[in-house]
Amino acid sequence: MYYQYHVFFCTNRRRDGRECCEAHDASGMRAYLKRRCSELGLSGKGGIRINTAGCLDRCEQGPVLVIYPQGIWYTYVDEQDIEEILRRHLLEGEEVERLKI
Ligand code: FES
Repeated sequence: MYYQYHVFFCTNRRRDGRECCEAHDASGMRAYLKRRCSELGLSGKGGIRINTAGCLDRCEQGPVLVIYPQGIWYTYVDEQDIEEILRRHLLEGEEVERLKI
């Protein structure tokens, strides 16, 4: 496996008033996780890859991210939630039940 974990953040923005992840600062949260992974030396081959994605079609439950290979979906509110996903899921391999969708 090239990456241990591959994380996709929906960063889709809509301008027509419909729900979208970017209205919840998805790009900012993605940048936060990317920076934290870099700081901890977790980025790159054999580690963790953080990518943006277009709409993942779960807009009403957003903002959303999905982690592969497990295919576990999370929502989040702020950097504290992202930090919890980092520490518990990506570092310790346990699922964060309260944020799963
Ligand atoms: S806008 Fe993010 S899942 Fe659709």
